[in-house]
Amino acid sequence: MTHKLLQATLFAVLSLFIGAQVFAQQDVIDKRQKLMKEQSAASKAIKAAVETKDYATIEAKAKDIVGTADKIVESFPKGSTKGKTKAKDDIWAKPDEFSNNAKNLKKAASELADAAKAKDPGIDVKVKALGEVCSGCHKANRAEKYSE
Ligand code: HEC
Repeated sequence: MTHKLLQATLFAVLSLFIGAQVFAQQDVIDKRQKLMKEQSAASKAIKAAVETKDYATIEAKAKDIVGTADKIVESFPKGSTKGKTKAKDDIWAKPDEFSNNAKNLKKAASELADAAKAKDPGIDVKVKALGEVCSGCHKANRAEKYSE
């Protein structure tokens, strides 16, 4: 093989490799954004159910968020920033704060599920508290715009 051909081959292999890496990262990013959208759909369903005092739906959707909250930290592997994402570097620079936010989400969602089960008339407070955990984490860890 000539020197130039070897160089071209190496370059092609390297590009494929890098391309695959970026593709894999976008996959991870898509998955976590889907997880977040599920949380958003559950939150909206909760708000609608509060209006109609549909405690069973509130409980079920709050439990869905208890489940998704457990998946947040693992959905943000270190370095998964190449692609269309709003994830800020603080997620990895301050990992304890990030995981505490996820824990707080789980706690707020379980408290809401408990309140729904008890048909607590003061359930609005728990719904509000849940929303505040979402926005608190977004304020610290989510950028205004997508990276690309
Ligand atoms: C532990 C931190 C954290 C918590 C808690 C959290 N989020 Fe997120 N959320 C993020 C980050 C970071 C992103 C940006 C992800 C990305 O673009 O890669 C995001 C993105 C989103 C998005 C946009 C997804 C997209 O397609 O770009 C929605 C919607 C969302 N979150 C809803 C919620 C809701 C609703 C809750 C509460 C029930 C919540 N999130 C709780 C960190 C959090």
